[in-house]
Amino acid sequence: MPSNLFTPIQVGNCHLLNRIVFAPLTRCRNVKTVPSDLQVTHYAQRGQDPGTLLISEATMISEKSGGYLGHENLPGIWSSEQTEGWRKVVQAVHDAKSFMFIQLWDLGRASDPETIKALGYDRVSASDHYTEDGKNFVRGLEVKEIKERVDFYVQAAQNAIQAGADGVEIHAANGYLPDQFLRWNTNTRNDEYGGSVEKRARFVFEIVAAVVAQVGQKKTSIRLSPWTRFGDMAVDEHKSREQFEYVVTQLQTQYPDLAYIHVIEGRTDGHQDLEVPQWMNNDWIQNIWKGPIIRAGGYTPESAVAEAQTNDRTLVAFGRMFTSNPDLVDRVRHGKALTKYDRSTFYTQTGEGYVDWKNAD
Ligand SMILES: Cc1cc2nc3c(=O)[nH]c(=O)nc-3n(C[C@H](O)[C@H](O)[C@H](O)COP(=O)(O)O)c2cc1C
Repeated sequence: MPSNLFTPIQVGNCHLLNRIVFAPLTRCRNVKTVPSDLQVTHYAQRGQDPGTLLISEATMISEKSGGYLGHENLPGIWSSEQTEGWRKVVQAVHDAKSFMFIQLWDLGRASDPETIKALGYDRVSASDHYTEDGKNFVRGLEVKEIKERVDFYVQAAQNAIQAGADGVEIHAANGYLPDQFLRWNTNTRNDEYGGSVEKRARFVFEIVAAVVAQVGQKKTSIRLSPWTRFGDMAVDEHKSREQFEYVVTQLQTQYPDLAYIHVIEGRTDGHQDLEVPQWMNNDWIQNIWKGPIIRAGGYTPESAVAEAQTNDRTLVAFGRMFTSNPDLVDRVRHGKALTKYDRSTFYTQTGEGYVDWKNAD
């Protein structure tokens, strides 16, 4: 029986020829927040199998939204120069006949305290609190600032589409700002943005509504990580399930034509593998969400084939293994061995370990 992984599927406006997705991967090869020629080569290599979906590395929607360590080597999409940089990357992916979504990123409290201060901004989150064992203060956003953040998403989405991208992915996973609003440990507000499951989800839905109004449902998608503790996010079998079930249910009710929902399995925590209990699974999502669903985190060629057989709308994203196998799709298709990745070059700034991985013979 042919595997679903190699059966075409429509995702948003993209007619994909396979269901293996290039996962968003921060790789720090930008120059002054502008995508570089190295990235043009890197993404084109990974889009070499026609009809493959690539999701960009997390891309800052404003300067205020950044402030990670190594800020300058991470991409933005608020200026015309950055948009121009992305246009070259997207063009190269399109030349390879593949597709690209740009991941929209607001770090919130995940910013580095010194870096965000040097940029001239406060370190912010859903609510006032201290992090790093009480050493660093994080300020809760005022309502007018929340509206400003939503406007940043809209401008970034518009720029991404102007750069030629096939869509945008709202990064609401891995402990960044939208995720900080969803979790009860970082969101202790008691106004309309906190205090209940519905109110904690309000920021996410304001972003989705505004981005959809700008670019349409078919060019909008979202990434969620219900079970991820990365960034010190609170996780609880029942509370997390209730929170994320609400989000997915509302997405299905209000935005059934989103390009896709992308979920990270609990067994990977941002960058590494973990042992997790059985209740930390995302299988329930496909019973609520009826559109395309991308599953990511710790998949092997064998488990990806099995996952894709569970229904006719599951795609599987690969992260680490795509770094070291530019022809990953073809290797999985033909059962060829995969080359192990090299963690030491994940976040360096040169082409080594980035554009020099070879296709299989
Ligand atoms: C080097 C590296 C960078 C990452 N950067 C991002 C990112 O920018 N955005 C994001 O949503 N996830 C990011 N992730 C998580 C991956 O998208 C993916 O969920 C994770 O690697 C698990 O998939 P894998 O087991 O196939 O590697 C990153 C992971 C790694 C290893």
